[in-house]
Amino acid sequence: MSRKIVAGNWKMNMEAVQARNLFNELKENEYPNDVKVILCPPAIYLSEFSDESKNVYVASQNVSDLSNGAFTGEISASMLESINVSYCLVGHSERRQYFKENNEVLAGKVKQLLSNNIIPVFCCGETLEERNSGREREVIDKQLKEGLFFLNEAQISKVVIAYEPIWAIGTGVTATADQAQQMHGFIRQIVLKSYNQAIAEDMSILYGGSCKPENAAEIFSKPDVDGGLIGGAALNASSFKEIIHSF
Ligand code: PGA
Repeated sequence: MSRKIVAGNWKMNMEAVQARNLFNELKENEYPNDVKVILCPPAIYLSEFSDESKNVYVASQNVSDLSNGAFTGEISASMLESINVSYCLVGHSERRQYFKENNEVLAGKVKQLLSNNIIPVFCCGETLEERNSGREREVIDKQLKEGLFFLNEAQISKVVIAYEPIWAIGTGVTATADQAQQMHGFIRQIVLKSYNQAIAEDMSILYGGSCKPENAAEIFSKPDVDGGLIGGAALNASSFKEIIHSF
């Protein structure tokens, strides 16, 4: 099975008409057969889009770590499943930073998603300060071990990992293709050590952080980079399509 995925994270952007136009432009396209295209619109559009998704999968940007009940404003994994959402981001650095989501909460979200047949796209990444002090591997190791590696083999086999160095998100500064490869290779190694070779070899590991048409081909050419989680460049249909065709 191909590991290639390109996902577009729209974040908190796009009012209804713009969102619908962008979705329409993307859903009708022919994409390479071995590349999965995933769109992560704001939650309010999920049910409208998931009904119509053809060549694209629809993902939520967030989910509750709780199953149901009196939790005003939350959206549960079972609700997402009931409208055919197939993926969900977990652990994006903006959620960790601005909404104080720690590894324990993230682990709860991962559990909720998997028990409702939704694939978590688990994000990890270090700050600039952590990288400058040589701690990037230690940080990623901890995020993955606490947030994800409690899963058994059957469960972890379903998960997608996204490496997103925080210093590259929305900043215009991209990790070089070699920096991305080093970290992706490291992530695959720790998946191998925590599980086994087959699981490590099948795991999709996406790069995120100022990925755009100008740099996607070089980054995607690296052996352990299986695609991208795209923010800013996913808000424009032609740049997102160019990225999808960059493999
Ligand atoms: P960016 O965002 O492509 O705008 O840097 C990536 C992300 O946050 O997923």
